[in-house]
Amino acid sequence: MKKYLIIISYFFFGTMGAYSQNSGLKSSVQEVETKVDSVLNLMTLEEKVGQMVQYNGSWDLTGPASEVGNKEKEERLKKGLVGSMLNVLSVEATEKAQRMNMENSRMKIPLIFGYDVIHGYKTIFPVPLGETASWDLDAAKESARIAALESVAEGVNWTFSPMIDISRDARWGRIMEGSGEDPYLTAKIAVAKVNGYQGEDLADPNTIAATAKHFAGYGLAEGGKDYNAVNIGKHELHNMVLPPFKAAADAGVATFMNSFNTIDGIPATGSERLQRDILKGAWDWQGFVVSDWGSISEMIPHGFARDKVHAAEIAVTAGSDMDMEGGAYEAGLAQLVNEGKIDEALIDEAVKRILRVKFKMGLFEDPYKYMNADLKKNVPYEEHRKTARDIAKKSIVLLKNENDLLPIKSSVKKIAVIGPLADDKDTPIGNWRAQGEANSAVSVLEGLKNTDLKAKMTYAKGVTLGEGERSFLMPLKINKTDRSGIPDAVAKAKDAELVVMVLGEDAFQSGEGRSQANIGLAGLQLELLKEVHKVNKNIVLVLMNGRPIEITWASENIPAIVEAWQLGTESGNAIADVLLGKYNPSGKLPVSFPRAVGQEPLYYNRMNTGRPSNDQHVTYSHYTDITNGPLYPFGYGLSYTSFEYGEPNLSSSELNTGGSATLTVSVTNTGDVKGKEVVQLYLHDLVASVARPIKELKGFEMVELAPGETKNVEFTIDDKMLEFYTASEKWEAEEGEFELMVGGNSEDLKTVKLNFNK
Ligand code: NOJ
Repeated sequence: MKKYLIIISYFFFGTMGAYSQNSGLKSSVQEVETKVDSVLNLMTLEEKVGQMVQYNGSWDLTGPASEVGNKEKEERLKKGLVGSMLNVLSVEATEKAQRMNMENSRMKIPLIFGYDVIHGYKTIFPVPLGETASWDLDAAKESARIAALESVAEGVNWTFSPMIDISRDARWGRIMEGSGEDPYLTAKIAVAKVNGYQGEDLADPNTIAATAKHFAGYGLAEGGKDYNAVNIGKHELHNMVLPPFKAAADAGVATFMNSFNTIDGIPATGSERLQRDILKGAWDWQGFVVSDWGSISEMIPHGFARDKVHAAEIAVTAGSDMDMEGGAYEAGLAQLVNEGKIDEALIDEAVKRILRVKFKMGLFEDPYKYMNADLKKNVPYEEHRKTARDIAKKSIVLLKNENDLLPIKSSVKKIAVIGPLADDKDTPIGNWRAQGEANSAVSVLEGLKNTDLKAKMTYAKGVTLGEGERSFLMPLKINKTDRSGIPDAVAKAKDAELVVMVLGEDAFQSGEGRSQANIGLAGLQLELLKEVHKVNKNIVLVLMNGRPIEITWASENIPAIVEAWQLGTESGNAIADVLLGKYNPSGKLPVSFPRAVGQEPLYYNRMNTGRPSNDQHVTYSHYTDITNGPLYPFGYGLSYTSFEYGEPNLSSSELNTGGSATLTVSVTNTGDVKGKEVVQLYLHDLVASVARPIKELKGFEMVELAPGETKNVEFTIDDKMLEFYTASEKWEAEEGEFELMVGGNSEDLKTVKLNFNK
């Protein structure tokens, strides 16, 4: 009788939609919990384990294929033994899989469909590192909202994004996928992304569930080599790596993904400390954790688990709720419960978390709500392109502009557009391109031709960069021998007044598994640049790259350098907007650019060391063969105008617990054109129970100023801002002296002192 009532209540709530989706209300949380419990109570152990299994729809692999064949996957779907699928694309395909599950399984628990929607679905936005360079949180949110809309139009209702791994090593190919080296900026972007994807209400069919990944430390792989071990201490973990994840959790991100790496010998996937104690314990986060692709089974080669069953035991105990294409949970969990090795309560906890997300997405009310073919017809793709162009131009960073070579003067009569990426319509789409079509971007050459530029334009590729077939899983071959196009490029450069050279990285040079030991201009590009430079010094170098690249020679010899990342669908138009001065560049680097690869990992928020400088001797912290510090620092970026900062003023140099002070700084546009400046605030805790970085970003604000205009920018300083994970292992502010620094990048700063008393 009891069971019967529960069934009734499940179908009542399920079909009548009595649940208010406003998850902010206590009662709705309670209602969801009641429903989750009522479903869980009806499930067999096998069905529960099934919810914890995620299968790949085999046609779009983003990792090594599992041993489970398609036929077997279908059979399991029909029995309701799959909780989710990834890489199943299109309304037809997702609907087919959902029907297979809903029409045949006993429990009829809807599937969710995940996909790597990293920087757009069809309309492609700048790669995340590039978009972060805009320091524009509304832009980050808007591109996520658009990506969500285009995803649901194809049946996808869950993205494995944002990637919020702090990454400070340009050798690591996945640096393109995150927001760079700073935890404060990354946390802000994380929240913007989660809000953009998930909107106000996860049940809204125009939103998708987001994933905070990779939990944790993945971006700090030793040597910048993907999947490598991470060796960081607890303070680095808490102060540098975890803040963006905490921010995403607080913003209500639906899911977390754990990571491939070990931290101090423990695989993140098997880390109880990370998943149970911190995420689900201290942070009290209620969503579910999906493993990374096969990361549960990968605990075997890590030397942490004997076999899949053992790996399943470790992962479920540690708090990993869903096994992505790894085969460990289906191989091990039921057996482990039956043999009494794990408590079924562990499984229940994981399944509750998964069901909770499904309820919040409204899938029990309508499992097909995201499979609406009509939705696609109404997606305003043209509007999305306009937004993509707007965000792309905001993401561009002007690195150098000697003698105001830029913007291109209307008096210029002849321009040679040169380089392997100058007319490349594919590279701007970048890696992790979801359903962004190959060769669908506007190239730089096209972008320039689309303008009212009167100058005559010639074009030469010079050299090729990537050769042969390029795809997500295959290694890229770089051209290192074919120089046949160089003479033509040199001739065209010689004949022109101005050269626009477009160099950098192939789309598939950065991304997963794309770590590099060298980060200069690959192949024959530097040779081409030097040859062109011999005949024409008026060069504007446009860089397209997913990672910081080493451009020391160029920065010493080329008068104008524009960092244009991989800017997505509207790349060429956005670049032309900046080159012609239709948009005054406002981007700032979210990551340090090195003078040489040997400086990596390189980051501004570093420790001082006991020997920070010494002009006389060799015995201080430096490399003897290179100038200390980056070529271009974090937060750096020029404009076509110039800004002058006044002396910062603090309303009070004493701060007490619970109090606040206002830091005011004036910023003046001292040039001739309107421009935007990202005013940055950094902090240094001079003496602490744990040595603190020499500076850390604590705030930023974008101001727009007309020529000659001055604005006062204010930052509120309170004790929250001074907090860090102290020697007592908690977040708190410690008494003492602090430096507050403001300026337009992490090196050109003006300082005021502050005293904090408890
Ligand atoms: C492995 C990657 O590490 C992860 O970020 C991605 O979401 C999954 N593969 C699924 O493609």
